[in-house]
Amino acid sequence: MSYTLSHGKALDVTGVGLDATDLGPIGSGPVDPRAWFAPHDDRPIELEIGSGKGAFLLRQATAQPLVNYVSIEYARAFWRYTADRMRRHGLSNVKLVYVEAGAFVRQYCPGHVFRTVHIYFPDPWPKKRHHKRRLIQAPFLEHLHHVLTHTRDATVRITTDHAEYFQWMVEASAPVSALFDREPYEPDTSAPTGELAGTNFERKYRDQGRPFYAMVLRKRV
Ligand SMILES: C[S@@+](CC[C@H](N)C(=O)[O-])C[C@H]1O[C@@H](n2cnc3c(N)ncnc32)[C@H](O)[C@@H]1O
Repeated sequence: MSYTLSHGKALDVTGVGLDATDLGPIGSGPVDPRAWFAPHDDRPIELEIGSGKGAFLLRQATAQPLVNYVSIEYARAFWRYTADRMRRHGLSNVKLVYVEAGAFVRQYCPGHVFRTVHIYFPDPWPKKRHHKRRLIQAPFLEHLHHVLTHTRDATVRITTDHAEYFQWMVEASAPVSALFDREPYEPDTSAPTGELAGTNFERKYRDQGRPFYAMVLRKRV
């Protein structure tokens, strides 16, 4: 049991949290996320990268009970906190996976699975020497293209408060412009009025008066 982030309350990830035991060692072959939702494995499935404390996931998965959600988090404390939160809300259409996103899309996930990839407020890594750690890079976008369904509604949705990282994202998407069309961002249907996605970071940054930047990359089919 973990008490981090939980103010002393025990966390229980049973039924929602998946980790290395469920994925197998890197190189052991693809794991099909659809199978995690049997017998409802034929429903549309969406991916969130970086769930944090899970505000977006909770609202979205509650609003869309006939859509399955896989959310990835590589900080163990957040993974446990959010998996426990989804379990307490009885959300059978959510799985929280404790894994690094690049490893998940490169090593584990088969192609043509996810209808949507949600990436809200990825870590900006502002120092130049840390830019290589940024999630949004052209090769990563190529992997996202591979795991997205081969359908016209397949999109990657990205928000950030960081102007320079947003410019980096625009440049990272240029080499893969044959794979995606860049479109203006429209808020998720579950987002509260006036919000882009309704994540914990969005609310914190909104209170601080920060500007926001967002884009949608639509898979070319
Ligand atoms: C700035 S927080 C944003 C959290 C949430 N999306 C929000 O807006 O409140 C970024 C989150 O992504 C997670 N994260 C960053 N890089 C990741 C990666 N490569 N794989 C999985 N999770 C990652 C971090 O642990 C952190 O919880």
